[in-house]
This record gives sequence, C-alpha cells and structure tokens, in this order.
Amino acid sequence: MQQSFTTAQVAAMAGVHRDTLLRWLRECSVPEPGRNRHGWRVFTAGEAAAIAAFAKGDEPDAAPETPRDDEAALSRLLKIEWDFASAKTGYLTHSLHPYPAKFIPQIPNALIQELSSVGETIADIFCGSGTTLLEALQLKRNAIGIDANPLAALISRAKTTPLADSEFEELGAHRSACERILEKVESRTGDLFHDGQPFRSSGWRPTPKVCEFWFAPHVVEELAELRALIDRIPGEAPRTLCAVTLAAIIVSVSKQDSDTRYVRREKTIEPGDAVRRYLSHLDSAALAAREMSDLIEDRFSCRVLDADILEAPETMPFDLVVTSPPYPNAYSYHLYHRTRLIWLGHDPERFKKTEIGSHRKYSARGRNRATPETFRGEFERIFQWLRGRLRDRRYACFVIGDSTIDRTRIDNASLLAAAGADAGFREAARISRTIAPTRKAFNPRIGGIKTENILILRKM
Ligand SMILES: C[S@@+](CC[C@H](N)C(=O)[O-])C[C@H]1O[C@@H](n2cnc3c(N)ncnc32)[C@H](O)[C@@H]1O
Repeated sequence: MQQSFTTAQVAAMAGVHRDTLLRWLRECSVPEPGRNRHGWRVFTAGEAAAIAAFAKGDEPDAAPETPRDDEAALSRLLKIEWDFASAKTGYLTHSLHPYPAKFIPQIPNALIQELSSVGETIADIFCGSGTTLLEALQLKRNAIGIDANPLAALISRAKTTPLADSEFEELGAHRSACERILEKVESRTGDLFHDGQPFRSSGWRPTPKVCEFWFAPHVVEELAELRALIDRIPGEAPRTLCAVTLAAIIVSVSKQDSDTRYVRREKTIEPGDAVRRYLSHLDSAALAAREMSDLIEDRFSCRVLDADILEAPETMPFDLVVTSPPYPNAYSYHLYHRTRLIWLGHDPERFKKTEIGSHRKYSARGRNRATPETFRGEFERIFQWLRGRLRDRRYACFVIGDSTIDRTRIDNASLLAAAGADAGFREAARISRTIAPTRKAFNPRIGGIKTENILILRKM
C-alpha cells in the first residue's frame, strides 16, 4: 500500500512549522497534494520528500508572507469533496451542546484555511453554537460571533474560552458539591427527601406553570439546586461552561419530545437522573475544555455578541465571513430552546421577535405572515451593514439550502446572491454538497432538504 502523510507529518519531516507549509502551498511554492474524502490534504511519500528538499534550500520563517492567490484558493475549494460523509465532527469542544442545523466543522475549516491568513479575523454573523469560531481559533485566527439567540451566544463563549488551571479547580469543587446533592437524592435520607417529603430547593426556578407543564416536580428541585450551585462558581469561564452543561441536559429531563419538536410527551425520569446526567455531561465538558484550552494560543481571541444582526451591531472590521444563515420557514429556534432559555433566566419572547426565518413567522396568518420578499429585504439590510465591516476584496461564505414556502421551493442561495449584488458583492463560487441525513435535524415536513450550497461572495 502506498504510504501517505498528513500536513502536520510533512511539516515535521521538513522541519518547518505547519503554517509555513500551508503558506508554501498557498503561494504554490510546493505542489498541492490530493485530498481524502474528509477534505484533508494527503501527501504521497514523493511529495513529502520534495517538500523536505524544498525546505532545505529555503529560509521559510524569515520570508515575508506574500499575498494570497485567491484564484488558486477558489479552484482548490472547488476540488474538495464537501460531503464529509464519515468525518469526525465532535472534537475539542464542538459537542458541548446540540444545536439544530449546526454545520460540520470541516466546512468552515476548509474555507478559513483557503480564504484567510494566520492572525486575521473571521466573523460568523449567525454563529449559532460557534462552530466557525472554534475552527478560526484553532487555525490561529481571531473570531467574532453574532447571534440573537442568548443560548447560542452562551454556547459559543463556552466553546471558545480557554480555562486556566485555577478555573479547572473551580470545576472540581463544583462537581463535588453536585455529588453531595446526588448522595442525598440517592439515599433518600437527606434534605431532599426527608420525612418522605420532597425537599423544596431554595434555588431559583421558572414560574410554576412552565415547571408543571414541562417537568416532573422532583426534576424541578434538582435543576433548581444545580442552577444555584452554578451561580456560586466564582470564575466566569467555568460558570459559563457549567451553564451550557445544564442547558445541554434540560430537554432530555423535560417532557419536551426532542430538540426540534416542541411537543409534550411523558418520560420516566427517576429521582437523581437530572443530577446524574448533569455530572456525566460535566465530565465530558471538562475533558473537552481541557483539550481546547491546551490547544488555543492566548494571542488569538474570540468575541461573541448577543445581538440582532438587523440592528447593525458595532464590531471590529473583519477579513472573512463564514456563516450558515437561518433558512426561511425551516426552524423556530426560540421554540426549541424555550425551556433552556427559561432555565438560564432569558426571555424567549424577546428572541422570538428578532429571529429571522422562523417557521412561526412564515406560517402566521394575515398581514404579518413573512414571505420570500421579507427574507430578501432582511438580507439587503444585512449586506449593507456587512459592506462597512468586511475588508475590501475579501469573501463572505454562506452555507444555505433551499426551503419550501407555501409549497413553493425557494432557492435561498440565489436569493442571497441577488441581495448581495445590490450591495456590491459579486458571486465568486457556488458549490453544492449533500447533507448527511444524520447530521442535520431538518423537519422533513417543512423542508425535506437533502443538499445545500456553499455560496462564496466577494466584496468588490
Ligand atoms: C443555521 S443556525 C447557525 C448554526 C451554526 N452555523 C452552528 O454551527 O451552530 C442560524 C442562526 O441564526 C440565528 N439568528 C436568527 N435570527 C437572527 C438575527 N436576527 N440576528 C442574529 N442571529 C440570528 C439563530 O439563532 C441561529 O443560531
């Protein structure tokens, strides 16, 4: 079998930093190898040897970075197999929290590598659970994320904020406090179940109506206790990580059917289950956060804004946009995340008003019903704002599929391209990819979407 090598291995063989090798590839100083089905570069032994020979005759780190060859980058992007059918997607902190229509990290990774350079700033203007932001940081870029969903902003922060050793100790102390609660629940002799009466937690809980409808009474007490313990964590970063961990278990211990189905169904949740699930998620979250904290260099940072994009939020200028916008009529994030937002102390009604594309707005009756023109109008405003923030001649990449409104198929990529053209963004490439059915939790009754487009626009 022919031997093959990864980018990191070839860089090590050549005795140069991986970034140096990536720069040589961009500058076409060394030949571009093939890619595997996950989109990663695969070097043959001959290619690796040629690069090692090239390294011997070069002063790589002293050479100034030459301008990127954008045409070559675009043609490399066109050659990638974008389906990434069996790619691993849960590395680092990517799996901290589920998120409907989250895209797989390999997509932003390839776009960031090809269309930006180390040290530049990458924006995801609908950052959701922060996939682009984490990929930007691990590729040594800065990141800016924007989302109107407060839960999305929280997950994005948890995913991208490295923890110091002292903060991991805070996590350890918090875990011990949670275990003490579990001992009381399990033995049924402690405060939680004294005299056969359920303990009333002194922690905050949502209004009784929400609790009674969506949660068994003992689950409410356990969640209230966990929330109170989280609020007592001194450091903001570990506190955020624990809040996201709590949010991650809420749907599974509630009577909500699933993440993308906001209907009530009876489930058997035993006393202690909520705390046990939380502890198990906390262990995975701490491991993932350790791995991320060890990898991300502190000279690169990520800023996440909890903001409505239509309100034209103030940001630093950026060099590349990689985003997956909401599709009209496909999701209702404010509904799916309602119980989570409530437990985190946020008002889902506020987000409901600002959410673009929500199924609710497109299925409303009367004058307020949203239409494809509503969506186009929103994106015309967004592109005008983007014009003032994205640097000249740089790219904005949108990963978006079609949707169905009133039984009519809507080509959202073309709609975005037209809205962008009005603001001086020219289409540079459009790539179609197949969505793995297990990867995107689309509601088939709404969209039945099997492919999506990667639309690359260039600011002229
Ligand atoms: C398809 S999701 C993004 C998922 C993300 N790429 C990920 O990997 O998790 C679209 C996002 O747009 C956000 N959104 C909807 N309306 C918005 C608005 N007016 N301003 C900012 N974000 C909004 C939603 O909250 C949702 O998180």
